[in-house]
Amino acid sequence: MCGIVGYIGASPAVPYLVGGLEKLEYRGYDSAGIALIDRQGIAVIREKGRIDELKKLLGEEKNESTVGIGHTRWATHGEPCRKNAHPHVSQKGLFALVHNGIIENSEELRQELMAEGYVFSSETDTEVISALAEKYYDGCPVRALMRTAERLVGSYALGVLCRDFPDRILCARKGSPLLLALDERGGLLFSDKVAFEGLREVYRLEDGEFAVLKQDNITFLDAMGRNIDKSPSRLAGDEYDAGKQGYAHFMLKEIDQQPRAFSRTAEAYLQGEDIVFPGFSLSEDQARSLDMIYLVACGSAYNAAAAAQYTLQQIVNLPCRSVIASEFRYTRHYIGKNTLCVFISQSGETADTIAAMELARRQGGRTLSIINVPDSTMAVGSDGVIYTLAGTEIAVATTKAYSAQLAALYLVTAYLGKRRGELSEENYRLFLNHLKGIGAEIKGALALRSRCESLSRIFDGQNDIYFIGRKTDYALAAEGALKMKEISYLHCEAYAAGELKHGTISLIEEGTPVVAVCLRKDILKKTVSNISEVKARGAFVLAVTQERYAPLFSEADEILAIPDLADEELSVPAGAVPLQLLSYYTALRRGCAIDKPRNLAKSVTVE
Ligand code: BG6
Repeated sequence: MCGIVGYIGASPAVPYLVGGLEKLEYRGYDSAGIALIDRQGIAVIREKGRIDELKKLLGEEKNESTVGIGHTRWATHGEPCRKNAHPHVSQKGLFALVHNGIIENSEELRQELMAEGYVFSSETDTEVISALAEKYYDGCPVRALMRTAERLVGSYALGVLCRDFPDRILCARKGSPLLLALDERGGLLFSDKVAFEGLREVYRLEDGEFAVLKQDNITFLDAMGRNIDKSPSRLAGDEYDAGKQGYAHFMLKEIDQQPRAFSRTAEAYLQGEDIVFPGFSLSEDQARSLDMIYLVACGSAYNAAAAAQYTLQQIVNLPCRSVIASEFRYTRHYIGKNTLCVFISQSGETADTIAAMELARRQGGRTLSIINVPDSTMAVGSDGVIYTLAGTEIAVATTKAYSAQLAALYLVTAYLGKRRGELSEENYRLFLNHLKGIGAEIKGALALRSRCESLSRIFDGQNDIYFIGRKTDYALAAEGALKMKEISYLHCEAYAAGELKHGTISLIEEGTPVVAVCLRKDILKKTVSNISEVKARGAFVLAVTQERYAPLFSEADEILAIPDLADEELSVPAGAVPLQLLSYYTALRRGCAIDKPRNLAKSVTVE
């Protein structure tokens, strides 16, 4: 995913563009650039690396321009370097543009243009767009952009400058998010609302739409060039603020925000003892008619799905399957109108998850998306939507959104369990009481911060770390391993504790770190046995458990014990905290770029 910004107004554009890019850096940060229209035409400044590198190239002379576009890149086609950085300028300098998405037929278009004498200067798919715009330009830049869009196969969010029309920024969207706003600053263009603070209402471009953004007005057009009336969405107040509030990293701030993120989400849909989702409902008949539930997602959202699968299946008495979105798309499924397909995504823009959701819809499934970003693509593409209320999450390695996803999934579990008659009134009330207490349990686990900081020494310098567990502890082990890999760059593997002895245990040797996640009594003795097995091969074992079970882990070298939990079926949110903190402090110890880890992006909107 890349970050796009644009500004047109009465003030210098550079401060708005650079400020916006700094806030969008989490979307990708291997190179960045801006383009400005000034008296000489279009000026482009680009650089490999982070925004700070770009800022070194921006002298005062660049402050005269009041219209420009900017881009921070997560490379798909072409290595991260200055010539592949956006914006890309057409050969005669007529157009400069920034792009988020993938042009799947770029090679074919490149050959066609080269045959007509066009000389490319980058290896990117994006450059074919600026080349086509120049090819089709007949004095009307919008028409040139529309004709260009007709040739493109794939996805794009575009911000385009035309040298002959310095009073506007052209925009186009298909498959990648693009938003616009007008306020006292002027006309604003962005791929995510966090780019500009103080926004009160935004316009969202839909697939196939175009826009002409000016300082004080916006014209929206459909693919035929017909004007469209669009209403803005008002932005709810958000707990996200520009700063880190004294934290060293957004990630640590967001780990600490988890009690509130979980509770805010859990309680937002509770009306007394009723669960009410404004964007999703099933009658008792519909709930009882369900034949299967899929939980589909990527990354940590998938790990939340994998954890919830056990609880959901246990309580609603239905086959439930958590599936990685990129796998879901290429597997035969038996989806019908009674299949509930739940798609979980923090950004609501992850291409694999969106594609999986579209597949499920085509096959007649009932789709529900659980997302954290309002008005994101998935919000408008599913039959039902439930928002997690984690607030804006900036750290690439998700924490509070993961917790809030679990809150939403637990609510859906109780909602369906009750409607299907699988939860008695008493057990339904008990479930809800436990759910309401999880925010405090997460808070209790946060007290382990200093222990985790100290224990992070175990991992620094290790090449292979194993996270093991059973049932929801296994799903939790997977999230712990992913966190450690994402931000510490240490190789980790999550493994079903009971499966280790069937092969992988051959890799355990003297001092190999093994994190044994064991929060559940129903599998505790089995996992204790697995600890003995790896200890017998020399492993260094860190057990993650509840205080009440700590005495049972005498064989472990170290124990991280969270305060006792009310319901072990709902142990994942609190259990995630020590694993998140262990990865955070290991990454800190290793001097890693915690909020923006190498090679990653907050959400990958390309396949
Ligand atoms: C990855 C992020 O790119 O995408 C993960 O680094 C995230 O943190 C995953 O879990 C899925 O993103 P989303 O937005 O669909 O939850």
